[in-house]
Amino acid sequence: MKFFIDTANLSQIREAHELGILDGVTTNPSLMAKEGIKGEAAILYHYKAICEMVDGDISAEVISTDYASILEEGKKLAAIHPNIVVKVPMIKDGIKAIKWFSDNGIKTNCTLVFSAGQAILAAKAGATYLSPFIGRIDDTNWDGIDLIAQIANIYSIQGFKTQILAASIRNALHIVKCAEAGADVCTCPLDSILGLLKHPLTDIGLAKFLEDAKKTV
Ligand code: G3P
Repeated sequence: MKFFIDTANLSQIREAHELGILDGVTTNPSLMAKEGIKGEAAILYHYKAICEMVDGDISAEVISTDYASILEEGKKLAAIHPNIVVKVPMIKDGIKAIKWFSDNGIKTNCTLVFSAGQAILAAKAGATYLSPFIGRIDDTNWDGIDLIAQIANIYSIQGFKTQILAASIRNALHIVKCAEAGADVCTCPLDSILGLLKHPLTDIGLAKFLEDAKKTV
């Protein structure tokens, strides 16, 4: 399973990258707004900075919702760097646009996915990645991980090539469960990635080893 970081914060991206385990980055308009990135020039510049930092797929989301504008915006984003993946919402014009991008060699990430039916449609259109939002499904008292498993099963039976990119990750356990359920990629906040490090027995064991090591010097 590939690890992406789900943020537009450059210092968090750098920290995850320095761990040596980062395969890519995803962003969305809310994450860009959180960093105070405003205006087309600043947005394009910010994506360029991320691409220069991480050698992996970088999702940049369109904010248009009609076919012609999604194509225009997506082409502009794709021109920033070969690693840009155009992130397109799961709407009718989005699916049409994903098909066009797929036919024209532009990678896509179909976002805001909450059902297996949507996953089938995105795969049929040729999406490179599919982003089911695990945490937001959990928020509605359904199990987001079940959806990952269901889509993984369907894609395997049907031979779809679209990669399942589990999104809206809220904790380290989500990452483990996504790996078990067959996600191809997990995009996570930095805290959830660092949460994988934690185990009290590791801390207790290390303290004991360091204490005993004093007897050996
Ligand atoms: O990649 C989508 C993700 O950023 C949404 O996460 O926590 O806003 O549901 P969240």
